[in-house]
Amino acid sequence: MAGKFDFDTPYNRIGTDSVKWDMPVRVNHMSRIIAGMTTADMDFKCAPSITAALKKRMEHENWGYVDMASPGPTAFKKGIIAWNEKRYGIKNINPEQLGVTTGVHAGIIASMRALCPPGSKVLMATPIYSGFYGDVRFTNTVAEESLMKYVNGRYEMDWDDFERRMTPDVKVSILCNPQNPVGRAWTKEELTRYGELCLKHNIVVLSDEIHCDFVSKGQKYVPFATLDDKKVVDNSITYKSGSKSFSLPGMKCAWFFSTNQDLYRKTQANNHADLSTMGMLAEQAAYSGGSEWLDQCVAYIDGNHDFTNKYIKANIPMLKVGQKPESTYLAWIDVSAVANKINAQKMADDMNKSPPVNPATGMPKKVTSADMVNLWFAQNAAVAMNSGTNYGKGGENFIRMNLATSRTTLKAALDSMAGALKKISA
Ligand SMILES: Cc1ncc(COP(=O)(O)O)c(C=O)c1O
Repeated sequence: MAGKFDFDTPYNRIGTDSVKWDMPVRVNHMSRIIAGMTTADMDFKCAPSITAALKKRMEHENWGYVDMASPGPTAFKKGIIAWNEKRYGIKNINPEQLGVTTGVHAGIIASMRALCPPGSKVLMATPIYSGFYGDVRFTNTVAEESLMKYVNGRYEMDWDDFERRMTPDVKVSILCNPQNPVGRAWTKEELTRYGELCLKHNIVVLSDEIHCDFVSKGQKYVPFATLDDKKVVDNSITYKSGSKSFSLPGMKCAWFFSTNQDLYRKTQANNHADLSTMGMLAEQAAYSGGSEWLDQCVAYIDGNHDFTNKYIKANIPMLKVGQKPESTYLAWIDVSAVANKINAQKMADDMNKSPPVNPATGMPKKVTSADMVNLWFAQNAAVAMNSGTNYGKGGENFIRMNLATSRTTLKAALDSMAGALKKISA
């Protein structure tokens, strides 16, 4: 074990109603599971400062409503502001324009309710985080997808296509910075160009920076709010949380800010935050005492990226990965060869004669060839991942693998996938 905290010992989460481990077993009818590598949370014990703060609070055995409405510099907000200034150099968070909410989604939806009339368009560069499509659905808006270019194993914006889609009915653009699922850490130049185009076309930038801490060695997270052009920054709202960095998504606490008072107020007016005492406390304890834990965690994930990228290139010829991801703890894997081999399209066509119900919407949803590959890995390798279809245009031939687990579990998963593919590749 290298370092003070133990990320190496596999941590058993089975039987805790975990979306990452328990849900895929149920949904994919798996008889066993080697690795749950689905939704973006981590398989590690949380930072000790978080557990200590929660334990202490539990001694006060009263759980009345928590005051989160104060607009001024509460201890909670001071913690967020200090963390952002110290860690990422964000110096312009005004406590009066910092809102607290139950999740990054809740914040984005609040802005969309304020800024996007029903039927208007939301511009996104795809493939992009699946949850944004849910935000679009909840606000009765329409996704306008600009497919990114895949150049030498790395995604880039297709600027001409992006601008061509900036019609007057596009009111906001959701930016994923850094990018889930393709793992780009956008550069200052790229973000500036993104922001300038949006400003020119009267489109507000909703910058989701929830993955900001996970950048690979040699890469950098550039907060949108630190761009040089004040007009570009004033045309944006940033959404963040400790929920990815410290794996606290079940605690339901996030926050947003804008240098633009009007955008902040409009979002806050639509922000129905039912916060929990424990969530706010966990977040506060993460920022006040979790930096050493996080540094070690980020380095560990970086090692997992190196390990996975090399392992797949050396041992699993039917899977294709590009350059090592620059950010997030997610791998984006081209599975077209597997789809061909198992005749995934035919499997999907057969299943679509009576399409399964999508639990997110309660409606039947047609399955795709990538869904079938994902199911195939769950059933034949006992490894649960996410189908690329969930991530919009450009995800059709991919699966997403969550690497935020012990190296032992990661290796077991890759070994199992390699073994399952060997059986069919003869
Ligand atoms: C880019 C991105 N935004 C938002 C979320 C969800 O955020 P929250 O749980 O705070 O709503 C996720 C979770 O995976 C994510 O990857």
